Amino acid sequence: MLPLAHRMDLFAEHFFAGLSVRLAALRSQGIDIIRLDEGAPDLPPAPHIIEALVRSARQPDAHSYQPAAGIPVLRQAWAEMYQRIYGVKVDPDREVLPLIGSKEGIVHLPLAFINPGDVVLVPNPGYVTYTRGTRLAGGEPYYLALQPERDFLPDLEAVPEEILGRAKLLWLNYPNNPTSATASLEFFAAVVAFAQRHKLIVCHDAAYAQITFDGYRAPSLLELPGAREVCVEFNTLSKSHNMAGWRVAALIGNAEVIKAMYRLKTNLDSGHFRPVMEAAVAAMTGDQSWLQTRNEIYRQRRDVVLQTLHRLGWKANMPRASLYVWFAVPDGQTSADFTNRLLEQAHVSLTPGSIFGSGGEGYVRLSLTAPTERVQEAMLGLEKYFVNTPENQGFHSNKG
Ligand SMILES: Cc1ncc(COP(=O)(O)O)c(C=O)c1O
Repeated sequence: MLPLAHRMDLFAEHFFAGLSVRLAALRSQGIDIIRLDEGAPDLPPAPHIIEALVRSARQPDAHSYQPAAGIPVLRQAWAEMYQRIYGVKVDPDREVLPLIGSKEGIVHLPLAFINPGDVVLVPNPGYVTYTRGTRLAGGEPYYLALQPERDFLPDLEAVPEEILGRAKLLWLNYPNNPTSATASLEFFAAVVAFAQRHKLIVCHDAAYAQITFDGYRAPSLLELPGAREVCVEFNTLSKSHNMAGWRVAALIGNAEVIKAMYRLKTNLDSGHFRPVMEAAVAAMTGDQSWLQTRNEIYRQRRDVVLQTLHRLGWKANMPRASLYVWFAVPDGQTSADFTNRLLEQAHVSLTPGSIFGSGGEGYVRLSLTAPTERVQEAMLGLEKYFVNTPENQGFHSNKG
């Protein structure tokens, strides 16, 4: 066996790969585990989306390579969706580029802009792919703390001048994974001004923008005047339309960034399967009322979780968007201690906050991605475990 390239040091085994092995071992002992760890929607897409896929797959000309920038109707559908939801007009040919899931674009975008020694501003805790892509390009992540005292928004003015002199990209993600925090248009306005001042490209990952509750609407960064001079937004159908496995997303915004990404991607991949694109068009242009019904299901699950946590005296925030509940673990325990114990003793699987960076230590992430009855069952298990376990007794969280 050849030794691995040094580059492979950047890629530790993914937490979820290790977890699956562990879960398989527990299940082989007949233990029923309730998984509230992964952020993948458990419900299927609407039937009309699947019909569009099947219809397209029956066409004899649907099976060849497709245009590198996707079929025009796909880019048009994204432009129409942005107009409808945000009142934002984008040019489908210059300001929209389909991606093979937003993860693909998140990993690749730094390759187009980052030279060794350049800095990328990355939220901590945050989706780990921002760091992976930065490192792959030879860049240096500079972490922006997301803390409860600032509603999990970074303090951009606290970034040292020396860092700003070398920084090229700024990653943001609202509604946020893992904290479920949301950002206001006022915060976004400050981000745009900051990026203009320091010549940064803002990469806003809006993966959870359409999973919202209680009448809340998550804004797009592109709603702000001047935003498209310095910003791109990642929009994905993975979470919004329950299509995580279909791998269909888009980069939207600054035309120069889009042009560079197009050039890069024509060298790296060969785009989507046409039926996936046609189904994505159906997803964005067809009936959207099912999304509200689906969000209502997440809302009910969220309430089940929050009722239990609050009954136990936990100070978890009430998320108004995303798939997650983020809460502090009992004092004196690490995130991993807590999730390991919960897995072994209550048979509930949560994600330790520490996998999202040092800023996630002391927290856990609970995903609302299991059927409501299973979420209820998990919460009963958690309550029983919490009440009956001595190491949890001194728990008085003041973290959030
Ligand atoms: C913040 C964030 N961005 C991007 C992704 C990946 O989305 P996609 O399925 O479009 O690659 C995820 C998936 O969990 C995520 O949490």
